[in-house]
Amino acid sequence: MAFQTITAQEAANLIKNDDVIGFSGFTAAGCPKDVTRALAAKAEAEHAAGNPFKVGIYTGASTGDSIDGALARAHAVKFRSPYQSNKDLRNELNSHGAHYFDLHLSELAQYLRYGFLPKPNWAIIEAADISADGKIILTSGVGITPTVARLADRIIIELNRYHPKETAGMHDIYEPADPPFRREIPVYSPSDRIGVPYLQVDPSKIAGIVETNLPNEVGAFTPSDKVTDTIGYNVASFLSSEIRAGRIPKTFLPVQSGVGNVANAVLGAMGANPDIPPFEIYTEVIQDAVVTLMLEGNVRFASGCSLTLSTPALENVYANLSVFKPKLLLRPQEISNNPEIARRLGLISINTALEADIFGNINSTHVLGTKMMNGIGGSGDFCRNAYLSIFTTPSIAKEGKISSIVPMVSHLDHSEHSVKILITEHGVADLRGKSPVQRAKEIIDNCVAPEYRGMLNDYLNLGQKGHTPQNMAAALAFHDTFNKTGDMRLTDWSKY
Ligand code: COA
Repeated sequence: MAFQTITAQEAANLIKNDDVIGFSGFTAAGCPKDVTRALAAKAEAEHAAGNPFKVGIYTGASTGDSIDGALARAHAVKFRSPYQSNKDLRNELNSHGAHYFDLHLSELAQYLRYGFLPKPNWAIIEAADISADGKIILTSGVGITPTVARLADRIIIELNRYHPKETAGMHDIYEPADPPFRREIPVYSPSDRIGVPYLQVDPSKIAGIVETNLPNEVGAFTPSDKVTDTIGYNVASFLSSEIRAGRIPKTFLPVQSGVGNVANAVLGAMGANPDIPPFEIYTEVIQDAVVTLMLEGNVRFASGCSLTLSTPALENVYANLSVFKPKLLLRPQEISNNPEIARRLGLISINTALEADIFGNINSTHVLGTKMMNGIGGSGDFCRNAYLSIFTTPSIAKEGKISSIVPMVSHLDHSEHSVKILITEHGVADLRGKSPVQRAKEIIDNCVAPEYRGMLNDYLNLGQKGHTPQNMAAALAFHDTFNKTGDMRLTDWSKY
């Protein structure tokens, strides 16, 4: 079948107010970039003419600016799921300009199949190649593409020549059956392939091909600093002590590591630790540190959902495909983040918290309890099911005006039941097998910034009797004080 080549503008003109779109990609890797800019311009023109124009958006995770940024600035987002990290969209969500449904990333595809959410009218998919019978080679991120491609009424392809066709073979496309027909997902080690290397779509659904040559919009990572390096060192030292104690096999276990600079620093420190053997990765986001560790021989294989690499790192992979292709595998997020597989493989999961409390509960999403930062992402998929779930966080934020460790989290994403280890630049709290008061002592003594230790011990003493000694009036006093004075250190316990 010969597909029609169309312009981004023509593609955007096919999309109507209130349509729902599912996008390919995961983070800024593998996302369309051209049609969405044209769509944002169309929305602005419609608004200027007094017409409503908004669309519902599903993606793998966050996107490049050409989706979330452009459409948010055009006020063209009706609803959005499951994760984002764009400043303009964040403002739109926090001011209720768009509705946001924050979801475990492994769940979105099945939510769509189960009919829990509106079905996409459109799938817009970035491809490295497409055959006449609708076999697509995806680019650097997979996300929810197989599911939205199947469920959508029509498909628009952005054929992006920036990504070499020779990446064919790096993807493993597999969609599980839905209950009551689902069987086990047969991934028994990170490198197991269970699907096919291409995405098969119904060619009759393809409305047109937009040709592009555009790099991914992955932002550069800020270089690690003393705090992130120390957190990384503490994680690596803790893991090597677990090997010595016989609680992690000497051959090690597959690692899942979260997004951002702390995650990059942690992986770097693990590579530098002589007690940690070369290991495998089973994760969602493959970041720059993984490529470096592969070249150094410290990472043997990485399975993920995207190559969220800076432009130089991605171009290095593309220029050396014979080296990297045998060691990299990209899967849909319902497989990369699958709870069944996380538990079977025995993942060591390392994610970053925005805020933790002294009892081991984690807030990954809401700044001071109200403002959405990014979303829960894959942190819940992994931490609840990991062999060992570790959360890291710098002990303070905003030059110490905020303690990342508080009496009670202002929003709960991961409960004390899922969190095993908390690590800051000050040290490690091992929460396994400890009661709430024991956990509180462990966290205050080992993880809290010195200036906040006395305050948190004072809070514990204010606690009402009971298994978990909370003081309900004072539990959110740190946040209340920050809101009133701009500094949690001014918290006055005398009124409680
Ligand atoms: N209270 C209020 N603000 C806080 C805070 C706290 N306890 N801790 C940090 N902040 C602020 C920082 O000052 C910074 O503000 P700025 O943007 O104005 O500079 C901002 O929050 C981000 O902090 P930073 O330390 O730069 O965060 P990060 O890049 O390491 O990301 C998360 C941390 C939690 C936001 C990020 O890891 C995330 O989105 N996690 C959820 C999803 C997830 O875990 N995915 C991984 C699964 S594979």
